Amino acid sequence: MSSDLSPHLLGQGPIWPIEIVRGRNDRVWDPGGRMFYDFYGGHAVALTGHAHPRVRKAINREMRKLIFYSTSTRLNVRERAAATLAAHLPARLSRMFFCNSGAEANENALKIALQLTGRERLIAFRGSFHGRTALTLSVTDDPRLNAPFARFAPPIDWLPFADPTALDGVDFHEAAAVILEPIQSMGGVRVAPDAWLGELIRRAHAAGCLVIFDEIQTGLGRTGTWFYASRPELEPDMVTLAKGLASGIPVAATTVTADIASALKPHDLGSTFGGGPVAMAALLATFEVLEREDCLSSVQSLSQKLVTAINRLPGCTALGRGFLLGIQSPKPGRWLCDQLFSRGFLTGPSRDPLVTRLLPPLTLRPQSVDFFLEALSEVLGESG
Ligand SMILES: Cc1ncc(COP(=O)(O)O)c(C=O)c1O
Repeated sequence: MSSDLSPHLLGQGPIWPIEIVRGRNDRVWDPGGRMFYDFYGGHAVALTGHAHPRVRKAINREMRKLIFYSTSTRLNVRERAAATLAAHLPARLSRMFFCNSGAEANENALKIALQLTGRERLIAFRGSFHGRTALTLSVTDDPRLNAPFARFAPPIDWLPFADPTALDGVDFHEAAAVILEPIQSMGGVRVAPDAWLGELIRRAHAAGCLVIFDEIQTGLGRTGTWFYASRPELEPDMVTLAKGLASGIPVAATTVTADIASALKPHDLGSTFGGGPVAMAALLATFEVLEREDCLSSVQSLSQKLVTAINRLPGCTALGRGFLLGIQSPKPGRWLCDQLFSRGFLTGPSRDPLVTRLLPPLTLRPQSVDFFLEALSEVLGESG
């Protein structure tokens, strides 16, 4: 096993001192054959687990036909992927642009809002993470990342997350868009209450300000419904997706209403690799797996089991929904991650020092939950 980093690679910050060489569903292995239960999913990407046979087959089949062609031509597989994604999205968000990363999906959404409204301001929330491009960094609440680029940021109104009184202090008429994660993941697994979200959307819409839901983590079944925006009372104008949309092949999407779509001209959006055939085949296979294996029901029931057990541990509270869960414990999150790692479980820290995140595959097996809860109670229980 090698835990030493190559000097050639930039931007690497491993959470665990291991190398992973293979994976199967909710488990991964290091070169020495040591196995880990993956409750982190490679940054919430392994939606259908690792190396799902259906996804592998779909990718192989497509690669034998055509590895890539761009949007300068029609591709049947791209059109089928768009139809499948549209069929799962709320009906009003049936238009989409495929790109390659979450940051790009958000960058497109923000650009669309600035372009279509002609306004200059954006509204963002404390605790947010939206990506590492210049525009998405400007709405990401992390001075370590965005301070060097502050001069490139448009004017931003920063609001405290989920605080009803804060909505009075901002003029939505000035803003092109408000962007938020319905559950802030990196920010510490903080859930936006429905009533607050509804009021935010109502006020924004009354002032002509567009609402962008960053569902890069909450989308695609992770919270037990297809999308956070699937609730009929919530009507964002754009929803952005990435992470596990194609089970680990990079695909992201900016989805918009028909009104927004009709206001855009053909070349307002573009990407060389966006919507490539292999990625689109992987997207189709991802939806097939999630449906065939009834993953949303199992997310709901296994999440309930995890939440109940976490809440029984001394001083602990379960945060979040579905498989976007936080364990708030009296111990530092980093310490808890390390303890769980040494017992063979991968979990992730967050920016809240007392919150550890669970972002497992939606194909997580019940026995893995049992093993995890055993380890957790060993670490955090009365005798832990
Ligand atoms: C909520 C959210 N938005 C945006 C991003 C950026 O996605 P990417 O790293 O694919 O650019 C992330 C990545 O972690 C995320 O969690």
